[in-house]
Amino acid sequence: MHVLVTGGGGYIGLELCRQLLERGDSVRVVDRFFFGDGPLRALAGRSDGRLTHVAGDVRELDLQWLDGIDAVSHLAGLSNDPTAEYNPTANWKMNAIATERLAEACRKRGIERFVFGSSASLYDGIGPGMFDELTEVQPRGAYSISKKYGEDALLRLSGSGFAPTILRQGTVYGWSARMRFDLVVNTFLKDAVTAGKLYLHGGGWQWRPLVDVSDVGRAHISCLTAPLDAVGGEIFNVMQENYQVRQLAMLVAGSLSLHGRRVELQEAPLPKLVRDYRMSNLKMTQRLGFTPAVTVLESIDVMLAKLPLDDVGWLANPRWYNIAWMSVLEEVHAGQRDFASIY
Ligand SMILES: NC(=O)c1ccc[n+]([C@@H]2O[C@H](COP(=O)([O-])OP(=O)(O)OC[C@H]3O[C@@H](n4cnc5c(N)ncnc54)[C@H](O)[C@@H]3O)[C@@H](O)[C@H]2O)c1
Repeated sequence: MHVLVTGGGGYIGLELCRQLLERGDSVRVVDRFFFGDGPLRALAGRSDGRLTHVAGDVRELDLQWLDGIDAVSHLAGLSNDPTAEYNPTANWKMNAIATERLAEACRKRGIERFVFGSSASLYDGIGPGMFDELTEVQPRGAYSISKKYGEDALLRLSGSGFAPTILRQGTVYGWSARMRFDLVVNTFLKDAVTAGKLYLHGGGWQWRPLVDVSDVGRAHISCLTAPLDAVGGEIFNVMQENYQVRQLAMLVAGSLSLHGRRVELQEAPLPKLVRDYRMSNLKMTQRLGFTPAVTVLESIDVMLAKLPLDDVGWLANPRWYNIAWMSVLEEVHAGQRDFASIY
């Protein structure tokens, strides 16, 4: 299979590309490379020419990207609430409009398989409960509203030779060749190793559906390879388990204690934006026979093996935090900062 992965230079995209190559597929990545193309180049160097990439912006669709492509995994765009709130116009153009345009182009080309990296944050704000794919969602932030627009556009275009699949991915954790330390488990791990202290806002009782980055890659591949009638026009929640934030802090602190590190947990006031929701992953298990399985504990162990605990200075680099990096890029663009000083 020849797969186009948009956003393939990102946290999830790189892991998905790695897995596709391992299966023997060929991959074309289109990415603006906000975070650089180093990890992708390294992967391409080990791919026997099966991984190629184009530096491109999904807001300026180039139909040549689709030449020879059998299937698309669409991950490009602003990928969290803070960056979407920082530049709502760019967010709308990337996550909503570009998704619709890319899907229209695929439909015209006869590229049936299209998997969209949507977000479980669509379930936020509904109130208490366990949500599934039939739940009526009421997105309230720029990010989730744009993802909902993308989902609706895909469902509207679905049928007659176009079979899109929507993956509502839970908050992701785990190790990728392009790391993010702005996602709850990864952030706790970073804070634990750098400061030895974790803050539990409002006690940390909030629920979040979580999933390891390697399982997200496997979820995309499940959809890219399943019978079309099982996935076309369908939404699937992607999650290993629902956890309370407090529980995550304890798992991180406990894991660090096995490395002789003491991590203090401290309660803190609630921030303005609090995300609190739970979802079910039953549909993916029942329809596709795939259930994300890598637990937070297992994933922390893998990350701890990768992190040099005696040298954590590099974790301060803004590159690992999307909103911090976006501010840096704006400052560089405005001539207020020298790019070289960030390395
Ligand atoms: N990581 C999570 O917890 C999570 C959870 C739910 C959904 N998602 C969604 O999954 C997708 C991937 O997330 P991620 O964690 O890998 O994020 P990421 O920020 O690490 O990667 C996004 C990639 O898209 C690229 N990109 C951004 N705007 C682009 C544009 N206009 N044109 C071309 N490329 C562009 C970036 O350069 C980056 O390489 C996103 O759509 C995100 O909304 C992520």
